[in-house]
Amino acid sequence: MLSRKKDWRQQVAYQIYPRSFADSNGDGIGDLPGITAKLDHLDALGVGIVWLSPVYDSPNDDNGYDIRDYRSIMQEFGSMADFDAMLAGMQQRGIRLMMDLVVNHTSDEHAWFKQARSAKTNPYHDYYIWHDPVDGREPTNWEAAFSGSAWTFNEATGEYYLHMFSKKQPDLNWENPKVRQEVYELMHFWLKKGVGGFRMDVINMISKPWLEAGTFSKSEARLPNAPKVQDGFLQPAFEMVTHGPRFMAFMREMKQEVLDHYDCISVGEAPCATLEQAQEITNPETGALDMVFQFEHMDVDSQAGKGKWALKALHLPDLKASLSRWQTGLHGKGWNSLYWCNHDQPRAVSRFGDAGLHRVRSAKMLATCLHMMQGTPFIYQGEELGMTNVKWFNIKAYQDIETRNMYAQAVLQQGRPHQDVMASIHAKGRDNARTPMQWSASQHAGFTQGTPWLALNDNFSQVNAAQARADADSVFHHYRQLIALRKNWPVLVDGDFELLLPKHTALFAFTRRLHDVQLLVLCNFSAQFQGLPLKQLPDFSAATPLIGNLPSSEWAMAPDTLAAWEARVYVLA
Ligand code: NOJ
Repeated sequence: MLSRKKDWRQQVAYQIYPRSFADSNGDGIGDLPGITAKLDHLDALGVGIVWLSPVYDSPNDDNGYDIRDYRSIMQEFGSMADFDAMLAGMQQRGIRLMMDLVVNHTSDEHAWFKQARSAKTNPYHDYYIWHDPVDGREPTNWEAAFSGSAWTFNEATGEYYLHMFSKKQPDLNWENPKVRQEVYELMHFWLKKGVGGFRMDVINMISKPWLEAGTFSKSEARLPNAPKVQDGFLQPAFEMVTHGPRFMAFMREMKQEVLDHYDCISVGEAPCATLEQAQEITNPETGALDMVFQFEHMDVDSQAGKGKWALKALHLPDLKASLSRWQTGLHGKGWNSLYWCNHDQPRAVSRFGDAGLHRVRSAKMLATCLHMMQGTPFIYQGEELGMTNVKWFNIKAYQDIETRNMYAQAVLQQGRPHQDVMASIHAKGRDNARTPMQWSASQHAGFTQGTPWLALNDNFSQVNAAQARADADSVFHHYRQLIALRKNWPVLVDGDFELLLPKHTALFAFTRRLHDVQLLVLCNFSAQFQGLPLKQLPDFSAATPLIGNLPSSEWAMAPDTLAAWEARVYVLA
């Protein structure tokens, strides 16, 4: 095994969304042999961890986040033998494979749910969450994340079941010890195969407060309605179920029963998590997981409390305040994950940078800014190429269940104008990140020989991996350098963080310090030249360049000015 595996805190992770990564058999859908064939791309980048979005058998209501069988591979993606070959290929390259563990809910086509819904007396009934009708209808006003009520009526038992996502994703009842044992067993199954950890889907939603053992009687419970959102797109209910009373107990049990027995890393996806909750979850002594994905910085360009589709222009001080609070708040107390995007978010360069004239430079600036912080950086496939959002005007072009359902609700039911809703989809829709990976300038960007399941971004003849690998100045090679730096500069792993110029609306500046090593990071989040307020920055007149997105030979020519979207990192003397 290569030494890369030893200290995961020096490693950078790479997320693969398998449906859109690489298709080996011409059916238009990415697959496992496709991934295996592209492992050299990851090796060249230098990543040490792969987070693989779900590859289990699924009817694909939510592209694999609705699992029908946790122990078999989705047919479209290949076979278990293909999985084993992919895993072996990663292991040979010293890359740790992190699987996606989706256990807040299953598919409604999972054998457990088919049993559970058949009768109240069925032994699997208590695997899920049921409620009698209240006044003849849904028990609460909660909306599912994918629109519509979070409750669906089940004829056979005369009850509603809870689903925080689509009605084909019923929530599991974690209060039932049998459910927990089932989950632990399936985790053992994959860990014994040699996988190196789990990213845990919406894991902080598993403890439903009203189900807390001993305090609940289903039909008598009066569940609270969610606070009404005025003029929002959705009436979400996440806050009613996140970080519930038994969440940490469940996580500690899972750690004891499973995680502690393997060399594995764990990342909990934690919507609505506060800093204090993240400290509790990731505390090295008393917590349970290595890190969480928190969302606070993903909310800075939405109107507060109205959901992601209610757009708001980015005000840089908000982004800086959020990220820096998490940097200092978890320093020495837990561990951060660092990300600009994933399969649920728009493309970083379109959202926080400039997808046009300054695409390459701004993508490198964003990479520099993120990779200079403390935590584990996650690169989402195509981010290392500076891939951008798509803009389709017909809703039929979109495949994502969240996007399609939101459009139907907002336009057809609420009567919002098509253009306004499309503007939200163009800015925030999940398909922005799901267009096929752009490997080359050839047909379908080299993603498939067939017809891609989702349209490609038109810019693939300019933006693609073959071009980027061949061009020493590309976004790809900049990421490669950043990944290498983390392994050689302990200050990046362990150093503290101090935000400078918190109110500046275009500059994101901070220092990292470990013992006598100090880095100064300067990033321009705008297309305008920015004069540096030297009096408010540490003296860097005798500093040496570490990395930047313009040649460091040019830095001395304009020592007190940053060009459009420029990033510079100095090692202070
Ligand atoms: C979070 C996942 O990242 C997202 O893609 C999915 O739709 C939901 N959880 C439901 O599993």
